[in-house]
Amino acid sequence: MTSYETVTVETDILILGGGMAACGAAVEAAHWAKKHDLKVTMVDKAAVDRSGAVAMGLSAINQYVGLKDGQNTMKDYVDYVRNDLMGITREDLVANIARHVDSSVHLFEKWGLPIWKDKDGGYVHEGRWQLMINGESYKVIVAEAAKNALGIDNIYERVFITEPLMDGDRCVGAIGFSVREDKFYVFKAKSVLAAMGGAVHVFKPRSSGEGMGRAWYPPWNSGSSTYLTLKAGAELTCQEVRFIPVRFKDAYGPVGAWFLLFKSRATNALGESYMETRRPELEKWAPYGMVKPVPANLRNWLMLLDVAEGKGPIYMRTEEAIQKIAKSEPDEKAVKRKLKELEAEAWEDFLDMTISQAILWAATNTAPEEKSSEIAAAEPYFIGSHSGASGAWVSGPKDLAPEGYFWGYDNMSTTKGLFCAGDATGASSHKFSSGSHAEGRICGKAMANYVLTEKPDYGNIDDSVIEGLKAAVYKPMAHYEENKDKTTQVDVNPHYILPKMFMMRLQKLMDEYAGGVSAQFTTNESMLTKALELLAFLKEDAQNLAAPDLHELMRCWENVQRMYQAEAHVRTILFREETRWPGYYFRSDMPTMKEDWKVFVNCVMDPKTEEWTMKKVDIKSIF
Ligand code: ADX
Repeated sequence: MTSYETVTVETDILILGGGMAACGAAVEAAHWAKKHDLKVTMVDKAAVDRSGAVAMGLSAINQYVGLKDGQNTMKDYVDYVRNDLMGITREDLVANIARHVDSSVHLFEKWGLPIWKDKDGGYVHEGRWQLMINGESYKVIVAEAAKNALGIDNIYERVFITEPLMDGDRCVGAIGFSVREDKFYVFKAKSVLAAMGGAVHVFKPRSSGEGMGRAWYPPWNSGSSTYLTLKAGAELTCQEVRFIPVRFKDAYGPVGAWFLLFKSRATNALGESYMETRRPELEKWAPYGMVKPVPANLRNWLMLLDVAEGKGPIYMRTEEAIQKIAKSEPDEKAVKRKLKELEAEAWEDFLDMTISQAILWAATNTAPEEKSSEIAAAEPYFIGSHSGASGAWVSGPKDLAPEGYFWGYDNMSTTKGLFCAGDATGASSHKFSSGSHAEGRICGKAMANYVLTEKPDYGNIDDSVIEGLKAAVYKPMAHYEENKDKTTQVDVNPHYILPKMFMMRLQKLMDEYAGGVSAQFTTNESMLTKALELLAFLKEDAQNLAAPDLHELMRCWENVQRMYQAEAHVRTILFREETRWPGYYFRSDMPTMKEDWKVFVNCVMDPKTEEWTMKKVDIKSIF
């Protein structure tokens, strides 16, 4: 048997994750750390330069409020988010991010990110809140600043975090393992930040075969934030609010630039625009259906109604949009020049953030100025930063939070010492990349404040507890060794289950019973009850996960994390007795929105017994 060295690291501030939120936290925490002689440590399962949701780059920054220039107010942004989430949002959290996000964007620019400029030197807006960027290297630029702030010795890359370390009700660190070396890590900390992203591949993706790793959101986001916060006993919120993005079909290219910048229409196979023909449907979802922009889920819903009636494929009318813009130029030469410019912008939009969509265009002889491209609703994702809302229930800022929404430190979860940012926090949607960075900065400062004010210690954890956690982490390796000779076919063995098989089982049950693509995003009480029954069997079989190497060991734990994310989701949809976000999911047994369900649904899992408690929480408005 391999022996795994135990490496113990002690730190004041522990940042788990390396994405936008974690990098924001690193920069801010480092600032306060220098003043007060604190140690800040960052742990990423991958390499910070290209990790997290922004790894591939982005073609736009989706949250810029323009507060200083008086373009918008904090309230404008809160109004936008509340409407988009059908009334369910933490206004204090959204406002806190909105008042800090512009400075994150200004930092990005200072660090070298090229933001498109108009002829007067102002930012080029994609839409009211969105800025166009040349963002292929966006993450590398943001990572560089974080790495410089922390110092390379304080960054642990390719270490996969599994369990939190708990001292009573206080989170005092986390454990993890290297995916490259035989090293087991014990991070003991006075404060901990969960910023490990959302979850993908919980539901069966549309992609199959060799394309299976293609999803809209990064496939490596496996629910680590949800798992860690649940296991630390923290309260979660909005676990029913999955995000279903409409994307260019099969390679998941973004639609924002098309809808907002190029003002493109989407039409069905008959050439009808569902946003026009289906407009009366929006009245059923008033008041949110009547608001501009129409909430993302309702835009999806109108499209899905067309699809259900057999009016697909649905097309993004790229050729129509491009020709329309070009034709507004004064003469033929200018029209030609504009056409070239738009063509380049169209390709760059994909090349900046979803390269595979550009490859698919090339492979299918698609010239966007000549031919429409198909769009489709993707499989569900768990993402607190975009138009979903799932994540932890955290303290708001003292000056903005309504009663009951503040408990000492910004963004601290209900578990002492455990903070959350980015996709890890719930009910604060539409922060995207820039807002996640800003939220990370809020956490960095709050964690330093917590450490300096509360003066917590590293906790009292018995060595036997650490040894127990270590054995549990590596169990799939031992299990594989023990049983590998009992089969002639490595992926089929009555004594073990490999992580890929396990993932497919999870995805199949979620897809069929919890409203995935093949169920047309529809479910009901009986279906959800069945899903819970099957999830319980899956949890039993998780004991038999097997890993032939460290990479597969990571896959095992990723899928365990996905399973807990799945359970939180199913339990919460089941608890909410209405349909509030048609287009994300539809409860066929409760097909309407109900006033008495205009509440948050929060859940907690007892880490010892794994029993769940569900509850309604009042929505308190600050505006
Ligand atoms: S991205 O994350 O992949 O860039 P997407 O392309 O959907 O997202 O959208 C970018 C931004 O534009 C997001 O803020 C999204 O909410 C917004 N958006 C996209 N389509 C529309 C639309 N039809 N109307 C209003 N806002 C939209």
